[in-house]
This record gives sequence, structure tokens and C-alpha cells, in this order.
Amino acid sequence: MTILQDRFGRSIEYLRLSVTDRCDLRCSYCIPKGFKDFEEPENWLTFDEIERVVAAFVSLGTRRVRLTGGEPLLRRDLPLLAGRLAALPGLQDLSLTTNATQLARHADALSRAGVKRVNVSLDSLRRECVNAITGRDSLPQVMAGLEAARAAGLSPIKINMVAMKDVNEADIETMVGFCIANGFVLRLIEAMPMGDSGRNTAYLDLQPVLEQLRQRFGLLPQNSEMGGGPARYWRSADGAFTLGVITPISQHFCATCNRVRLSVDGTLYMCLGQEESFELRPLLRAGISDQGLLDAIRQAIELKPERHEFRENPGKLIRIMSMTGG
Ligand code: GTP
Ligand code: 5AD
Ligand code: SF4
Repeated sequence: MTILQDRFGRSIEYLRLSVTDRCDLRCSYCIPKGFKDFEEPENWLTFDEIERVVAAFVSLGTRRVRLTGGEPLLRRDLPLLAGRLAALPGLQDLSLTTNATQLARHADALSRAGVKRVNVSLDSLRRECVNAITGRDSLPQVMAGLEAARAAGLSPIKINMVAMKDVNEADIETMVGFCIANGFVLRLIEAMPMGDSGRNTAYLDLQPVLEQLRQRFGLLPQNSEMGGGPARYWRSADGAFTLGVITPISQHFCATCNRVRLSVDGTLYMCLGQEESFELRPLLRAGISDQGLLDAIRQAIELKPERHEFRENPGKLIRIMSMTGG
């Protein structure tokens, strides 16, 4: 087997799988207010089609699959799909990124299906701040979701906090305490400019924030594997606090990129910050052979660009975040 490699010698071993482009929230940095242009159900890949594509990726060396959205838990019977993917020999890491509003209902079934760990979006612990960012009074449901995830044995639980200047910057301190008290990994994320909403995101450089937290908690770089993504991790000497920082703007990580994205309509997106893409759905629905599918995936990977241009060219990317789920 030849493992998938792009033109820059990067091994592609992580597939982010968006199972719906819909969401029950309207986070300011993700979906523009009033956005209605969602994909029609007839264009959604079916579970059979998704399983076929993921199996093809796994046979080409993909070890990790992350279920994303929109909000993935809005896709009916998601635990069923999770179970089918978890059963693919060779897949080592099946995870989920969710806003957790529906997690309380699904955590147990997901865990039994083979999802090992979850990343949960939560930007503040102040109800009115969450309301302002997400457009809904979602905090109580998210808290219940986190509790259920823990009870279901999902581990680690990572909190994704998009840190924004003058919006929730002042909430970082409380969030640190919350994560330490609950054993969650805190991940601070720089907002990326995507679509119209992206252009309005309040970018906060996380380097000085990291420096402050490093000094205050005596954080040391953590080298053991904490996931397959772009976060750099730090840990306090007593092990009580693990911090991940995701800095696409102030210090990008494209040189070690290992991933591509499959959207709900069967389009492969080669980079979060660029438009290069390859449509698999027409091929799947025209009855492409297994070998043909592998060749198509290899051809698609050839299109992968070297890096994003969020910094040099903000406003370039029309695609909104929720189409690929980050
Ligand atoms: P782990 O497997 O736990 O490491 O997951 P992850 O951090 O890769 O996934 P998650 O869905 O939690 O994403 C966290 C943040 O990282 C989100 O803001 C994503 O948009 C961002 N992110 C993930 N992958 C990429 C990437 O390839 N490029 C860029 N620029 N951002 C990414
Ligand atoms: N910039 C950075 N991160 C974002 N997310 C959503 N939109 C953006 C953005 N514009 C994060 C969410 C979620 C993850 C999938 O992506 O916090 O946890
Ligand atoms: Fe990979 Fe593009 Fe993300 Fe850079 S921005 S890490 S190239 S997906």
C-alpha cells in the first residue's frame, strides 16, 4: 500500500468528515446571521457512501477520522454511522467535534459505538456572553452535554475556546479554572477569517496569552500525543492543567498538515483556508469502481495547496466555516 502523500511530502492520515452543514447555533465566527443556503438532502452523502469513502481513505493510510458538521449531532442516527466507521480495520482514532447542545442525549450511544473522545466548543462560562456569541441561550445544555460525555467515559474531553479580543478575552481565566477543576483540556484558538462572519471576527494574538499562562502555571511543553491536530500542548508540572493552543494566524502549522475534509455533499476540500476541492459524489453515484475511487482520491490530494493565506489575504475565503466544520 502506498500511503497518501501530497506534493509537499506531507502524509495525509486524518480525515475530517462533515456529516451535515446545518447547526442549531449561529456562532459569530462561523455562520453568518440569516444564512439559509444549506445543502439539499438529496445531495447529502448516504451512510453507505460515507462508509465507502472512509474505507477507501483508510486503505490509503488514514488512521484518524473526526466527525464534524455544522453540528454533527443534528445528523439523524449518527451513532449508527460512528459504529460502522469504528469497525473499519485500520482506523485507530474516531472522534467528534460538537457544540454539545445535544450531547447529553447521545454521549452514551456514541461511546458504545466506538467514539473515544470529543472536542466541545465553548467560548465562555457567562450565559449572556455565550448567548451573544452563539445566538442562543445554549450554556445549560452544553454543561449537561459535558457531564454526560464524562459519565459516558469519553476521554480526553477538550474545550475549544475561540479567544476573541474584547469579546471573551477576559473569560480565559475562569475557563482555565473550570478546565482544571473538571479535568478538561483547554484549547485556545485564534479566530480565522472565513466567509462574511470571518471578516468580523475579533482576532486575538495568542502568543502573549500563552506566555502569561506559561509563567503563571509553570507550563512545560508536552510531547506525548494529545491528538492528531494542529494544537501545541503545554502541561503544568503537577499534571492538573493541560493547555492546547491553536494559532493559525500568529504561527501557522501548515508545514505539518496531515488532513483533508469531506463535506456533506461529497466534496473533498484540500485546505481549510483555500478553495481547492474535488467532487466525489458524481463519481460515487455514477458507480465508480473501488480502484477508480482510490485513483480519484490520489488525484484530489495532488491539488492540496502548501498553506492558507488567512494573514496575507484575509477576506479571500468565501466559504463559511460550517461547510467543513473547521
Ligand atoms: P484533535 O484530533 O483533538 O487534535 O482535533 P483538532 O484540534 O484537529 O480538531 P477540532 O475540530 O477540535 O478543531 C480545533 C480547531 O482547530 C478549530 O478551530 C479548527 O478549525 C482548527 N483546525 C483543525 N484543523 C485545522 C487545519 O488543518 N488548519 C487550520 N488552519 N485550522 C484547523
Ligand atoms: N476560527 C477559528 N475556529 C473556529 N471554529 C469555528 N469557526 C472558527 C473560526 N472562524 C471552531 C469552533 C469549533 C471548531 C470546529 O472550529 O470553535 O470548536
Ligand atoms: Fe492544512 Fe490548510 Fe490547515 Fe494549513 S490551513 S494546516 S494547509 S488545512
